[in-house]
Amino acid sequence: MASNEFQPLQGMSDIHAPEINLWRMIEERARKLFGCYGYEELRTPALEKLSVFKRSIGDTTDVVQKEMYAFTDRGGRELALCPEGTAGTIRHLAGRGEEGLNARVFYIAPMFRCERPQAGRKRQFHQVGVEATGEPNPLADAECIALQQHLLEAWGLDGSKIQISTRGIPADRQPVADGLRNALQPHLDELCEECQRRIDENVLRVIDCKNENCAKVVGQIPSALEFMSDESRKYLDTVILALEKMGIEVEVNPKLVRGLDYYVHTVWEITHDSLGAQNAIAGGGRYEIALGKKAIPGVGFAMGIERVIASLEACGITAEQFAPKGGVWLVSLGEDSLAENMKLACELREKGIRCGMELSAKSMKAQMRKANREGAGKVIIRGEDELAKGTAIIKDMEDGSQEEVSLEDVMRIGFSVAQYEIRNKTNSFEE
Ligand code: HAM
Repeated sequence: MASNEFQPLQGMSDIHAPEINLWRMIEERARKLFGCYGYEELRTPALEKLSVFKRSIGDTTDVVQKEMYAFTDRGGRELALCPEGTAGTIRHLAGRGEEGLNARVFYIAPMFRCERPQAGRKRQFHQVGVEATGEPNPLADAECIALQQHLLEAWGLDGSKIQISTRGIPADRQPVADGLRNALQPHLDELCEECQRRIDENVLRVIDCKNENCAKVVGQIPSALEFMSDESRKYLDTVILALEKMGIEVEVNPKLVRGLDYYVHTVWEITHDSLGAQNAIAGGGRYEIALGKKAIPGVGFAMGIERVIASLEACGITAEQFAPKGGVWLVSLGEDSLAENMKLACELREKGIRCGMELSAKSMKAQMRKANREGAGKVIIRGEDELAKGTAIIKDMEDGSQEEVSLEDVMRIGFSVAQYEIRNKTNSFEE
């Protein structure tokens, strides 16, 4: 088998130790914080009907047109792997009737987009996201952004920036599209080929185009905000004021266009300078999604875990810091103590103490080396002598001190090691 036979598909990754420790930290702290804000976890299938995405994200978006893993299954059904979490969440909530219209849910799940893989852009990536359904309310939008800011703090990530704008109310769509189209018309020749087509189809995509020439043109024309109703602008002002009151700084970026069509009113993006071209660690906004007859209004966000991890690492926060360590390591000298230590290990683990041992006879030196590698706080050594006396030798791995204690004391000391580890955690979001 060629060596690349063992690699996952292009743009996808196996996530393993030590990096997995950062993932666990991110997920555990997110779950804890979401609980504080009253969000319940939701797990929807990775596969949905294609129509769920077409009707929510929008037929003319890049995500739907170019990036979805869409296929027809053996039963002739048109399906797609989730490119994002909002559509499936709203599909679920729509099925829960009244209850679904006023719900707060969060998800931590893999998403799939068949994009050209590059730094920060994967084909399978993971999102931590929330959705809060309910009638438009600028305070709900502000609270959602505050939750996101809080989450970044819980993860220990400094240096991110929040950019905010508005897509306005649905009635603004036509005047905004007309206004932008008219402003772009004199520059049509300067736009890239795709934008020359998109200008009629979905003019906001032109504002979002990464082509240098297109960006130059967009820089010269009025922003979408200028074609919006007072109602929409006032809504955005109220969101910003509420955020100011909570001490959360945001930058208004009228050129911010999110690549998904379900947004109304507030949209935002969080970037981190360490990331280069794909610098968005999160995106969010208020939306209206109609999968049945009735549109469901809500607000939410999703943060890309891979990009959060890249930002954390750029800030010097490493997976090793969250690797499991502490507890005790049992060293067995001789076959009898091996059997006795297995019994002792069961008792310690039953008490919730992290405990490891070799399961075959090894030299004392090899066992101590392993204890060190595993980051044990204490080592418990038992040989024939100790077994006969009902004692054990306990070695403190930090200061190197050693003492012989009775077997009852072994349990007590093991327990105090576990207690000590809990006391030493400083961040209130650490378990
Ligand atoms: P989005 O901006 O498409 O929004 O994605 C959110 C985040 O997912 C991005 O900021 C980025 O961190 C991460 N992400 C997206 N695509 C990739 C990729 N190919 N590789 C790595 N990371 C990626 C949404 O998905 C909306 N559903 C957010 C939302 C929820 N709006 C309202 N509620």
